[in-house]
Amino acid sequence: MDTFNDNYKKRMSNTYEDEEERKHFQRIISAFKHYKPHSLQRVRKTENYLASLPQHHQKLLLNYREHLQQVKVRIEHNAEIIKLITRGASSIFENVNPLDEHDNTLNSRPILADQEKVQATIKQLIRDWSIQGIEERKTCYQPIIDEIIHQFPSDECDPSKINVLVPGAGLGRLAYEIAKRGYTCQGNEFSLFMLFASYFVLNKCREVNSFKIYPWVHQYMNNLCSSHQTQDVSFPDVNPSDLPENAQFSMTAGDFLEVYHEYDHWNCIATCFFIDCANNVVQFIETIYKTLKPGGIWINLGPLLYHFSDMPNEDSIEPSYEIVRQVILGFGFKIEKEQTQVKTRYAQNINSMLQCEYNSVYFVCRKPNKQSIIDSKNDMLDINGQSDNIKIDCDNDHLNNHDIHEEAI
Ligand SMILES: C[S@@+](CC[C@H](N)C(=O)[O-])C[C@H]1O[C@@H](n2cnc3c(N)ncnc32)[C@H](O)[C@@H]1O
Repeated sequence: MDTFNDNYKKRMSNTYEDEEERKHFQRIISAFKHYKPHSLQRVRKTENYLASLPQHHQKLLLNYREHLQQVKVRIEHNAEIIKLITRGASSIFENVNPLDEHDNTLNSRPILADQEKVQATIKQLIRDWSIQGIEERKTCYQPIIDEIIHQFPSDECDPSKINVLVPGAGLGRLAYEIAKRGYTCQGNEFSLFMLFASYFVLNKCREVNSFKIYPWVHQYMNNLCSSHQTQDVSFPDVNPSDLPENAQFSMTAGDFLEVYHEYDHWNCIATCFFIDCANNVVQFIETIYKTLKPGGIWINLGPLLYHFSDMPNEDSIEPSYEIVRQVILGFGFKIEKEQTQVKTRYAQNINSMLQCEYNSVYFVCRKPNKQSIIDSKNDMLDINGQSDNIKIDCDNDHLNNHDIHEEAI
């Protein structure tokens, strides 16, 4: 099964006729290509400093020196996996070979931010496709999957007729899990780092735990034991091609805001750690609202770590959840479930002495059916009134574990 469907290929080939996009593609390939020299250079810098320390210090640090050797071996191994990932990259595209070996972008100096993205992609493999990622997936993906099953139970509808979109799909595990349960599910992603890696997992990995990677090898700090840094993780924990015969699963590449224009199309849109990826979160919410069918639901889970906040040359607004909520209601959504303080983690090394946890927000909201939309347009005061009726009590958070009923609104 080729998970990257024709739509995907067509869109990519059209897009990549564009010279800018082609250069972008080359840059990401180049970032993957520079992974090994860049990462080894980092270790060598430490080794050089170590070699300059007084002899009696070096003697005390013999095990550390040996550990750095191990780190280098692990980096070499990761580089082999990266080669496999990039090898398939150009075959994602139809009628076009975006790789131009003469393009000197391929050999130019790596951009630091891109190297961080290569490392983040490796860690994302653990979140999405390893046994070690189970806890994260249980807290982040399971509530979304459970809600879809609750909203569209297979004894009341034909799941294959339910269209679910997962924008910002990362490496595709959430979308895969939804498709596995019989729903027609499309993941959408615009990062080529993620797209290359998900293409590799979804289309090239055919056996459980057939590969291993060293996801924490770049984490030089907060290690309790040296072995925590050099620990391997196997992937994928499931066979990604193990989908039911009739499963409808696809991935599209491109900016969510540009790819999805069709009004009233999706029965459900599921966003996980996504809405804060917008320059303008209102535009994301607007697109979700427009593209959902009347009566369709939007399920969201995640924090508000606005990705463009304080980034040079990027615009950003950073409304609090209290305000985001008003925007959601302002478009006409009815919030049906809402929970704050949902403890979630993102690509965390559980052995690290530094742990980061989000108090995420989870909500389920519904685009009203056609008649309600007409009614509410005729009565805008109701919508405005609604946003005033439920307020986030920021001092005394009362929004934990709420099923919100129409009457409350
Ligand atoms: C924080 S990650 C979350 C990934 C996944 N949902 C998860 O929970 O692991 C956000 C993802 O959204 C993607 N993304 C951000 N803005 C996007 C956009 N406008 N269109 C499509 N994907 C986008 C990013 O590339 C990134 O992979």
